[in-house]
Amino acid sequence: MDKYLQANRALWDEWTGINYRSDFYKVEAFKAGQNRLRDYEMEEIGPVEGKTLLHLQCHFGLDTLSWARLGAQVTGADFSSEAIERARALAAELSLPATFVCADLYDLPRQLPGRFDIVYTSRGVLGWLPDIDRWAQVVTHYLKPGGIFYITEIHPFEQVFDDDDGVTELRLRYPYFTTEEPLVFTPQGSYADRSATVKAEHEYAWNHGLGEIVSALATTGLRVEFLHEFTFCEWPVSFLLPGGDGRYRLPAELDGKLPLFFSLRARKPPAAV
Ligand SMILES: C[S@@+](CC[C@H](N)C(=O)[O-])C[C@H]1O[C@@H](n2cnc3c(N)ncnc32)[C@H](O)[C@@H]1O
Repeated sequence: MDKYLQANRALWDEWTGINYRSDFYKVEAFKAGQNRLRDYEMEEIGPVEGKTLLHLQCHFGLDTLSWARLGAQVTGADFSSEAIERARALAAELSLPATFVCADLYDLPRQLPGRFDIVYTSRGVLGWLPDIDRWAQVVTHYLKPGGIFYITEIHPFEQVFDDDDGVTELRLRYPYFTTEEPLVFTPQGSYADRSATVKAEHEYAWNHGLGEIVSALATTGLRVEFLHEFTFCEWPVSFLLPGGDGRYRLPAELDGKLPLFFSLRARKPPAAV
């Protein structure tokens, strides 16, 4: 694992405990039965009962276990050992059947055998990955013929704007396309709790253009079934305003005019008969 992934993994190990205790994740509500999945993603994926589902970059498993509650046979994978330990403990505590694997995404095919009906990943995943083509190869590797890949993620267009605390206007700052060298940030607590103390000094991130993401998936042989662009974001950003529905949008004059989030479904062609 290279130095950037190692540093990010150490950061995620630190963030996991903070996030687990945060109001952002509401673990107690989840334990009491709350489903963390969004209505639109459940509709866009369709019924999962009895299907095998691999969740890439699953963090400590709340979304993975939400799919398990809907009847999917779930496997979650993440490179943070802290996250995987907590995911396993939650599954055991809630008596939900689930398998969790600790591995770097790019190394997963060497550690996890099998093929799945659904490969799923969501909300805050692609920015940690330096190579979007190799990511797409891992996705496709794990799909059965006829299986679907689904992602819901922040839109790369949203990521080009300065989001430092206090910046409320749209100010271009970051590249839209993948860069060889990462963008370097100084963590301020965790995104789930800004006031928390973290030892890690840097986080390393990459933006990936929508064309790069779609082309990476198509190049592996997947057929893109839809790409939806949404005008809301699922988490707070300095230049977005909170709505009453827990989502964040641009101010009135721009609301509805620019993409902030997207979802995509792609299918591996069925095996030839
Ligand atoms: C924001 S979380 C996404 C999960 C989900 N949206 C959530 O909020 O619980 C991002 C996850 O990606 C994982 N991650 C980052 N880089 C990774 C890599 N190279 N291989 C595997 N997991 C990685 C982190 O450990 C973290 O758990």
